[in-house]
Amino acid sequence: MVRVCFVCLGNICRSPTAEGVMRHLVAREGLSDRIEVDSAGTIAYHAGEPPDARSRAAARGRGIELNGRSRRFRDADWERFDYVIAMDHENHRDLSRMAPNGARHKLSLLLRFDPGSPDDAPVPDPYYGSGDGFERVLDLCEAGCRGLLAHIRREHGL
Ligand code: 4NP
Repeated sequence: MVRVCFVCLGNICRSPTAEGVMRHLVAREGLSDRIEVDSAGTIAYHAGEPPDARSRAAARGRGIELNGRSRRFRDADWERFDYVIAMDHENHRDLSRMAPNGARHKLSLLLRFDPGSPDDAPVPDPYYGSGDGFERVLDLCEAGCRGLLAHIRREHGL
């Protein structure tokens, strides 16, 4: 089993969206028994809460249900997951600081896997913004997850 964990700040907007999008793509390609998908946050402030209603509504518009409850990324997750995917630079920096030696290679920025995104592009935090921030998060998650899934399939011969 290949295990992927998406990580943002609160684990109620961006990383649950990426989790839902990735699970949808993995199921569509018949790989649900080979690739496990989860998400977490770098802070525990929203622990136990479901995904933000605005993220759920935007995802539902594309036929994707967001489930799960917010949780903080734990030290033990470095061992459990093969890919730890940060949504922005702050998440990447926080994760990089806590990564044990030998696990840092598991950490990447999501949009590194999207050939259409500029180098080092983040998935911007939509939480305090207005307008179409949540649709933009979905667009970016779809692009990043498509590339990430292709990368995983190549690396693992799936
Ligand atoms: P997320 O969005 O990191 O995409 O889940 C946020 C959720 C909550 C907060 C910030 C960002 N917050 O400050 O509570």
